[in-house]
Amino acid sequence: MFLSRLPLLSAVVFLTASSVLAQAPSSAQPAPSAARALPPSQEGPPLKAGPAAPAAAAVQSGPQITFNSVYVDGPFIAITFDDGPHGTLTPKLLDMLAARRLKATFFVVGECVAEFPEIVKRAAREGHEIASHSWSHPNLGKMSDDAVRSQLQKTDDAIKAAIGVRPALMRPPYGSITPRQKSWIHETFGYKTIIWDVDPFDWKRPGPAVVRDRIVNQSKPGSIILAHDIHAATVEAMPATFDQLTAKGFKFVTVSELLAMARPAPPKPSSTPASIARPPAAEPIPVPSVPASPAASALPNG
Ligand code: NI
Repeated sequence: MFLSRLPLLSAVVFLTASSVLAQAPSSAQPAPSAARALPPSQEGPPLKAGPAAPAAAAVQSGPQITFNSVYVDGPFIAITFDDGPHGTLTPKLLDMLAARRLKATFFVVGECVAEFPEIVKRAAREGHEIASHSWSHPNLGKMSDDAVRSQLQKTDDAIKAAIGVRPALMRPPYGSITPRQKSWIHETFGYKTIIWDVDPFDWKRPGPAVVRDRIVNQSKPGSIILAHDIHAATVEAMPATFDQLTAKGFKFVTVSELLAMARPAPPKPSSTPASIARPPAAEPIPVPSVPASPAASALPNG
């Protein structure tokens, strides 16, 4: 049922997102790597890139409540799976994670939680984080506060009913949410808004090998990786993705664990090397600083 409405939503979101935010470079052309920018678009045609949003312009008052990635000292990453749980694919994915003792974060859709509470319960029991992705995957950025509150409250309640605790994190569908909404949502529900910095565009069905390569090549320490456990090819891509990331030295943690490790980013070097050769693996790969927050306003998908 979920898949059937994606095309319509994509169209809606594309229109919305185009009007709101100059977009980051599309990961459809896999970025060479180190250049950390705003998260790429999702679930709609890649948006034409405008001038990159000036990170320095986003002066924040108060604690940071939106994250695309974080600065961490070690090789830690958080992989996230959106839009589920799915009745057969999510259990399959949980098996893959369990076999490797890896932790992930699931941004679940409330109505799917209501349909498959036992799968959510299993995911939580196995150490994964369960976070909110709204009740029915609408474009929150275009909705009234009351409607948004209802979407989030129902999902919060469904997650509480399934696993006994309420979520701490929220990812707006399509990444679409306004700064004002993020603020009151944080005040009301305590949620931090989680976007992403690695997007394999798996919803476009590029095939498992491409999904794997995009994730493996774009992940950096502190990355938050977006994927969808409602697509068979994405789940099919995961064993090799997990194994290749592990071989590069990455350690998988939940998003909340990653946030807890966040350090202030060091000052940017005055000159950025033009050749962005990626260090071969593990250890301390330099992580560019995180753009303060502008990204989350309206990016298609999530
Ligand atoms: Ni989504």
